[in-house]
Amino acid sequence: MNAQQDAKRAQKTENPIYILMISLHGLIRGHEMELGRDTDTGGQITYVVELSKALARHRDVEKVDLLTRLIEDPAVSPDYAQPEETLDAGARIVRLPCGPKRYLRKELLWPHLNQMVDKTLHFLRQQGRLPDLIHTHYADAGYVGQQLSLLLGIPQVHTGHSLGRPKLERMLASGRKAHVLEKQFNFEQRIHAEEEIIKNASLIVTSTQQEIDQQYGLYTNFNHTRFRVIPPGTDTSRFSPPLRRKIESAAQPLVDKYLAEPDKPLIFSISRPDARKNLKGLVKAYGQNPELQAAANLLIVAGTRHDIRELEESEQKIMSELMFDIDRYDLWGKVALPKHVMQEEVPEFYRLAARRRGVFVNPAFTEPFGLTLIEAAASGLPFVAPDDGGPRDIVANCRNGLVVDTLHSEEIAGALLEILQDRNRWRQWAKNGIVGVWRHYSWAAHVEKYMKEIRRLLRRDKKRLRRQHAIILHGEKSYMPLVDQALISDIDNTLLGDRRSLKQLTDWLQTRRSSLAFGIATGRSVESAVAVLKKNQVKIPDVLITSVGSEIHYGKKLVPDLGWAAHIRHQWRRDALAEALARFSGLRLQAPENQREFKLSYLATPDSMPPLSEIREYLQDLKLHAQLIYSHEEFLDVLPVRASKGHAIRYLAYKWGLPLENFLVAGDSGNDTEMLVGDTRAIVVGNHSPELAALRNQEQIYFARAHHAAGIIEGLQHYGMELDHDLQPAAIGELTHV
Ligand code: GLC
Ligand code: MG
Repeated sequence: MNAQQDAKRAQKTENPIYILMISLHGLIRGHEMELGRDTDTGGQITYVVELSKALARHRDVEKVDLLTRLIEDPAVSPDYAQPEETLDAGARIVRLPCGPKRYLRKELLWPHLNQMVDKTLHFLRQQGRLPDLIHTHYADAGYVGQQLSLLLGIPQVHTGHSLGRPKLERMLASGRKAHVLEKQFNFEQRIHAEEEIIKNASLIVTSTQQEIDQQYGLYTNFNHTRFRVIPPGTDTSRFSPPLRRKIESAAQPLVDKYLAEPDKPLIFSISRPDARKNLKGLVKAYGQNPELQAAANLLIVAGTRHDIRELEESEQKIMSELMFDIDRYDLWGKVALPKHVMQEEVPEFYRLAARRRGVFVNPAFTEPFGLTLIEAAASGLPFVAPDDGGPRDIVANCRNGLVVDTLHSEEIAGALLEILQDRNRWRQWAKNGIVGVWRHYSWAAHVEKYMKEIRRLLRRDKKRLRRQHAIILHGEKSYMPLVDQALISDIDNTLLGDRRSLKQLTDWLQTRRSSLAFGIATGRSVESAVAVLKKNQVKIPDVLITSVGSEIHYGKKLVPDLGWAAHIRHQWRRDALAEALARFSGLRLQAPENQREFKLSYLATPDSMPPLSEIREYLQDLKLHAQLIYSHEEFLDVLPVRASKGHAIRYLAYKWGLPLENFLVAGDSGNDTEMLVGDTRAIVVGNHSPELAALRNQEQIYFARAHHAAGIIEGLQHYGMELDHDLQPAAIGELTHV
């Protein structure tokens, strides 16, 4: 470590925080960003990279990990397949694989997001440290972050960037068919995820007030969350006004080769080739106004192209129309349309336009924020923009441009001319922009406002927790992904049955909370499990596997594991199964509270019911898939093929990145068999039912002499767990007499 880094570290406050930033779609790297390469690689990418770097520089922040998808695809640069990339001191990009290796457009990521949750948990385990804050970007990462936030008890901050509901409404209003849109954009899932995020996030950061009122305002859960307008910064080091001295820039020849009179003022516009960006309207505005053509040239940077015929269909259409329109209005020699523009060169275009006393124009139909306007302002370039939320805020803050109704091309042309014609005002506006950006839109200003909110949030979070528990043993977070062992016990006749040893066991578990997770696995429903645990004064465990393994919940808040539900849904046709089984008169449905989304339960005595094999064959003929679990000569449970207590434990092992050998599992009866056999280390309590005797000679299954919780304690000791004094052999010896 060098002296400079040491010095940097010394500047940090005590206990600086660790922020996990998540942004999943598009192509993210720290250098030569390929903005505009496709619809997923746009403003959000710069936003998350710049924010991560700026936050890492803040004195209260120790480090920032920007998590995204690892992509291995010959169609994109191998840079996106690097598991780690340093952005700056304290900031890096971390890439985790999820779903197929190839690049996927964001609408196709949904089925793979639960895997991202698991992969992130593994990553955190490897690091041995949990973040203090999760900040997610866009609905896909928001979904992942929300799962993590609920599972780990870490607050979630969210930035939407763009929202599904307003987009859907806009598209429907333009006459497109709902089912076609659904197929292309997956709106239903996205909007559902957004509703949940709004319900659960601790803070939502927006770029403008309008975004809150008109966009988030459309959501059912709108009133649940705190919102805060913090406009993004621009990298002011990249965007700066031209120097007085005339320096040849690399951008200049790219532009001038198109122009007959390159010294004229330059009207500059940059955007993705997307219909809503209305480049067509801009060319029309310019093409139909000879006065404007006489006053200035037009420069359009619309992504990068090699051959228009090779672009995505929608982009191809925009670009070819642009060409046709330039020809139609005969704008040759007046319009520059550079082909290959690298991200690095973009600031040069702004400076070139500023040096030639030009105007920046954003002709889009809507502009919720307007990053390019801020870049223009920072470059000393006045602008014309749509009369919409983002530009209105910027004009109010910086007083350096005009907003117009971009649906009318004449208005665009009129505003451009107005700015070009008044030299004094042009100079004033150029100056206003530079100062205004620095004051309102620098990342440093953003991060100051941001950290103020975060400090408040983390403080509030701590207070809330202090109220909840008299003593905060290990802070507020769930340590599940950091523990190195887990004890999972059946409830009835295993954990419960002997109050004294139960208390000893639970007291001891409490002292081991940060390294040993505690869970239960039961046939009971989650409500019934919670009730019986409460009745017996057992704290709600870290994990609850209930309804015979068909449901998993975590902790006090009973956060459901959505990944598990998605996993076991496979081939499960509950209604069809219920209908098919209704034909067997020997099967009586259990009480309604025992019927769950993934569990159908019947009462059936051996003499009243047909042989299990017959039921199985019958279901097979109907092409219905299910597991039948018969227990205690009384209960028949019908479950999805992937659900069982044993599978649930294996899933947890995978999810939390903990080897199966590190799971201690305790049970007493036949329906525990599946979780007792295999690589887990099993404890069978002394009071077990006869059907478990068959397991006696199996490796890794310990048969305790003591009963109930005392049997569990004996088993833990057998497996070499360090027990506290009052649980040492003497106490255990005493308990074995029970
Ligand atoms: C519990 C459940 C019941 C289930 C039985 C066997 O008693 O309440 O629904 O059938 O366990 O798993
Ligand atoms: Mg039992």
